[in-house]
Amino acid sequence: MSFPNDFLEELRARVPVSEVIGRRVRLQRKGREFLGLCPFHSDRKPSMSVVDEKGFYHCFACGAHGDIITFVRETEGLEFVEAIEKLAGMAGMEVPRQTPEAQRQEVRRKTISDAIEAACLWYERNLHEPGGAEALAYLKGRGLSDHTITTFRLGFAPAERGALRKAMVVKGVEPDLLVEAGLIKQAEDRDETYDYFRGRVMFPITDRRGRVIAFGGRIMGDGQPKYLNSPDNPVFHKGQVLYGLAQAREPARKVGSVVVVEGYMDVIALAQAGIGHAVAPLGTALTPDQIVELWRLAAEPVLCFDGDVAGQNAAARAAERVLPVLKPGHSLRFAKLPAGQDPDDLITQGGTKGMQEVLDGARPLAEVLWEDERARGGSGTPEQRADFHRRIRDRVRQISDRAVQEAYTDYIESRIRDERRDQRGESFGARGGGRMRQIGGKWRPAPVAPRGARAARSEATRALGRRQQQVLLATLVRHPALIEEVGEPLGMLAFDDPFLDKLRQQIIEIAWAEPALDSDGLVRNLGQVGLTETCDGLLAAETLEHAAFARSGTGLAQAREGLLELMSRIGKPQLEAQLVEAQRAVAEDLNEANWNRVLSLRSALEAINQGPQFTEAR
Ligand code: UTP
Ligand code: MN
Repeated sequence: MSFPNDFLEELRARVPVSEVIGRRVRLQRKGREFLGLCPFHSDRKPSMSVVDEKGFYHCFACGAHGDIITFVRETEGLEFVEAIEKLAGMAGMEVPRQTPEAQRQEVRRKTISDAIEAACLWYERNLHEPGGAEALAYLKGRGLSDHTITTFRLGFAPAERGALRKAMVVKGVEPDLLVEAGLIKQAEDRDETYDYFRGRVMFPITDRRGRVIAFGGRIMGDGQPKYLNSPDNPVFHKGQVLYGLAQAREPARKVGSVVVVEGYMDVIALAQAGIGHAVAPLGTALTPDQIVELWRLAAEPVLCFDGDVAGQNAAARAAERVLPVLKPGHSLRFAKLPAGQDPDDLITQGGTKGMQEVLDGARPLAEVLWEDERARGGSGTPEQRADFHRRIRDRVRQISDRAVQEAYTDYIESRIRDERRDQRGESFGARGGGRMRQIGGKWRPAPVAPRGARAARSEATRALGRRQQQVLLATLVRHPALIEEVGEPLGMLAFDDPFLDKLRQQIIEIAWAEPALDSDGLVRNLGQVGLTETCDGLLAAETLEHAAFARSGTGLAQAREGLLELMSRIGKPQLEAQLVEAQRAVAEDLNEANWNRVLSLRSALEAINQGPQFTEAR
C-alpha cells in the first residue's frame, strides 16, 4: 500500500516530533531543540536531540536518526502502514482510502484472521477438556507451568478428522475460510474435508503484534513429522515470521538484545526461565526478512546454534547469508551450545546459568567468518595461506554495504598483517602501549586498539617519516626528564618499524619504573633489553643532522619545544585517525570499553594539543 506524498507531509507537519517522542521520553527544551535520553541505547546522559522545525531526531551517541514515522516503527515494532495509522489517529487525520481491490483483500485478511483466532481459542479450550488430558500432561511433563501454557496460548487438536470443522460451523465460521487458512484440507479423492492438525499439541504462531496467524502442531511422543506447520496463507508467510516475537519485544528492548534459538520449545522454556528476549524461525534457516525484523529489536542479535557438526554448519551458513544485508551498526553474534543440547535441555537440566554462559560467549560475525574460513584450511604451506587469504577476501566482497565492507577489509587485512608479523617472529606483543602497567594512576595504560583501528593507524603511520620518529625518541633518550610529559599520547602511538616501536614502549616503561634515570642510565637499560643497536642508530650524528634540539648538549627548554612540535606532527594525525575509528566503534556498539577508548584518545590528543599552544604563547 502506498500513500500520496502530500498526506505524509501533512502528517509530519501536524504531529511535532517532540510530541511523539515526548510520550516515551522526558524531553527538555534547549532553545530550538529538545534533549532527552535516547530510547535506542541505554545511557544516563541525554544524547538525543529533537528538532521540531526539521521534523527529525538524532542521537549523538548511538546515531539513531529519523522522523515521527521511523520513531513509532522502531520503538513499537510497527509496520510502516501501522505506524501511519497510529500517527494519523493522533493527528485526527483520516488515512486515505485504498483501492477497492486493496480494500477487498483487507477485509478477506481480516476474516481469515478472525477464523484463525476462533480456532486458536477452541484448541486452547480443548486442552482443559477431558479429551485434552493427555496433551496437558505432556506439556506439564515437559516442565511448563499453567502460566506459561496460558501466555503462549498452547492448545490441543483432537484426533477426529472433522472436529475443528464441526466446532467452527457452530460458531458461524465458513469452511472456505478454514481452507484458506490452511486449517482444513480438501481430500483428494472424495468431496470431503479433514482437519489439518489432528492429535497434536498446538503452538499458535503470531505476528509481531500478537495476532495468531498460523500454528505449529507437535505430536506427543515419537512419530513423523514431529512438528506440522500451517502452510502459508494470506496472513502468514513463513519466512517473514519469528516465533515468540510478540512476547519477546518488550524484554528485548529492555535488555537491548535478542536471542535466536531453533525451536518453539526453546523459546518457551527460556521465557519461563526469565529469558524473555528469545525468538525462533519456523524450522528453517533465517531469511533476510527475519534478520531485518531482528535488527528492529537489537543491533546484534545472538544466534544460538547446536555445538554439533550440523549446528555449526548451520551457523556458518547463517554467517554467509547475512553478508549481503549487513549495514552499519548492525550485525549478528554467534553462540555455541554444548553439542547435542538445545536451550530447552540446558534450562531443564541446570537452570539459566548454563544458558547465560552460552550467550555471554557469543562471538562477533567478523571473528566467526575468519575462523570458519581458516577451519577450511590455510595455516600450513604458503600456498595454503595464500588460498585462505583469497577466500576470506572473497567473503568480504559479498558485503554489499560499502562502509561495512571497508571496515571488514580493514579488519581482515590487519589480521593478515598480524599473522605475517607472527610468521616472521617480529611480534612484540600488544602494540599501542598495551604492556604498560598502571602506577600511581599517572599514565593510563593505553588500551589495545580494536583491530580495525590498528589497520587505520598503520596506514597513517606509514606516511609519517621514520626519521621524525627517530628524532623524537632520540630527544627522549637524551632528555629523560621530558618523557613524563608526553608519556600518555606516546603510549597510544604505534611506529611501523618493530624495533623503533619496541624502543618507544621500553622508553616509557623504563622511565616509568625509574623516574629519576639520566640519559646514560636510560641507554644502559635499553641495552639490557636488546636495543643497543637501535639506540645507536638513533643517536648517530646523521639521524640528528637537522634536529639540533635532540643532541646531547641542548638545553632542556629547547629540547622540549622541539619535542612537543614533533609529538604534534607525528602523533596528531595518528591519534585523530584512531579517534575516528573509536567513535565509529562507539556508534556501533556503545559499551564501556569502546567509550573508554574514545575518552583516552581525547585525553591524549588534548595533551598533544597543549604543545603548540604552549610554544606559541612564548
Ligand atoms: P527440533 O527438532 O530441534 O525440535 O526442531 P525442538 O524444538 O527441540 O522440539 P522438541 O523439544 O523435540 O519438542 C526445531 C524446530 O524445527 C521445526 C520446528 O519449528 C521446531 O521447533 N521443525 C522440527 C519442524 O517444523 N518440523 C519438524 O518435524 C521438526
Ligand atoms: Mn527440544
